[in-house]
Amino acid sequence: MKRFLALTSAVLLSLPIGPAVAEQGGTPGAPGAGDPYFPGQGNGGYDAGHYDLSLDYDPSTGRLSGVARISARATQALSRFNLDLVSTLTVRSVTVDGKPATYAQSGSELVVTPVRGLARGRGFSVQIRYDGSPAHVIDPDGSMDGWIRTGDGVFNANEPQGAMTWYPGNHHMTDKATYRFTVTVPSTRVAVANGDLVSKASRGGRTTYVWDCRESMAGYLTTVSIGTFTFADARIGGHRVTTAVDPQATGDASGFAERHPPVLDYFASLFGPYPFSSTGGIVDHAPEVGYALETQTRPIYPRVPSESLLAHELAHQWFGDSVTPTLWRDIWLNEGFATYGEWLWADRLGTRTVQAAFDEAYATPAEDEFWQTPTADPGGPENLFHAPVYDRGAMTLHALRREVGDATFFAILRTWAREHRHGNADTAAFVALSERVSGRRLDALFDAWLFKPGKPSL
Ligand code: ARG
Ligand code: ZN
Repeated sequence: MKRFLALTSAVLLSLPIGPAVAEQGGTPGAPGAGDPYFPGQGNGGYDAGHYDLSLDYDPSTGRLSGVARISARATQALSRFNLDLVSTLTVRSVTVDGKPATYAQSGSELVVTPVRGLARGRGFSVQIRYDGSPAHVIDPDGSMDGWIRTGDGVFNANEPQGAMTWYPGNHHMTDKATYRFTVTVPSTRVAVANGDLVSKASRGGRTTYVWDCRESMAGYLTTVSIGTFTFADARIGGHRVTTAVDPQATGDASGFAERHPPVLDYFASLFGPYPFSSTGGIVDHAPEVGYALETQTRPIYPRVPSESLLAHELAHQWFGDSVTPTLWRDIWLNEGFATYGEWLWADRLGTRTVQAAFDEAYATPAEDEFWQTPTADPGGPENLFHAPVYDRGAMTLHALRREVGDATFFAILRTWAREHRHGNADTAAFVALSERVSGRRLDALFDAWLFKPGKPSL
């Protein structure tokens, strides 16, 4: 260790004194990613590439102990950098590239100062040991989000800000990364996460599940959910379908796994190939949680989902999970598209045509408050999951479809899914892409539907 340090400084001393050396000191990374809805979310100065999370959880006491190993790259010369982590969890040690680093926790920021600055472009790894009793947060709209305890474990849903309640990271959706979750729970419980189950091993009454998510993922789409689940991992119709169902869950769970391939195959025929290596879902008994979430590869539901909710969360796998917005304001790119997915699936089943769904929503009287929110600007984080984002968002897509015709419309959706696969994109990019693919100017349509308050005329 000493010898290595001496060698390193000898190398550094032999470098010419100049900007490169001065740069080594660097400046602090920003404490937020610059999203006006959640200013403290995410961090500047580095790009996380991979999270390796080892978690040990005891549902009876609610105690979590974790080790997070994060591989990242400095995007500026860094003297120090932040991670998002609530301070109800206590950090016990931090290393950067294996060397002890100093750190401080305040609010939901963990500030890490490595012994030596990190040069711009340098890859580094940070390891954080932490523990505590995670708790959910309350969102601006009053809903629960994060590590939500249930009678037998955890309903773990993290949109928009829950990821910081259980692991440290760069939690804005623009910094996507791959993940590995190693989760140890009492053998009476199952721990389900995103991606593919790699291994499961029991010892001394405890079971360790290893999950691998090789396609990049935004922090708000991660999940490690724990409960007394009936677990199944099977190949069905060419898909790897992994399901965990709480026997207490409300609704009829029979055939839950088998319900996935028909929806996915229909959507693949419209949107292009399913973007992930596995699918499935987590059905918990969590009546106190009022929503489901499109957690990547494997949505989580507080009860057995209806066909329309299942279709909604599976449509999100293309729109939201694979193609992710760049700012929370662009949330209609998730919810409007997923709602349109519900409409498409109901039409396919013969329950209701897309046109009828549009007509019903459009029948909302012009003076209704509903029309005051433009699709692409919900106005603040308290309105992220309000009706205009979902229904006016879906109506916006249908208005586009009527304008450009079916063939062009689905070509737009497929191009969107293909060009931004596993990436991020914003509303302006969708408008530009629609004009490019259709070869038409669509500013009047998008202006009325996306950007101006009031009921657009047809
Ligand atoms: N994206 C989820 C869905 O549409 C909704 C998440 C709501 N989250 C919340 N904290 N209220 O299925
Ligand atoms: Zn949704």
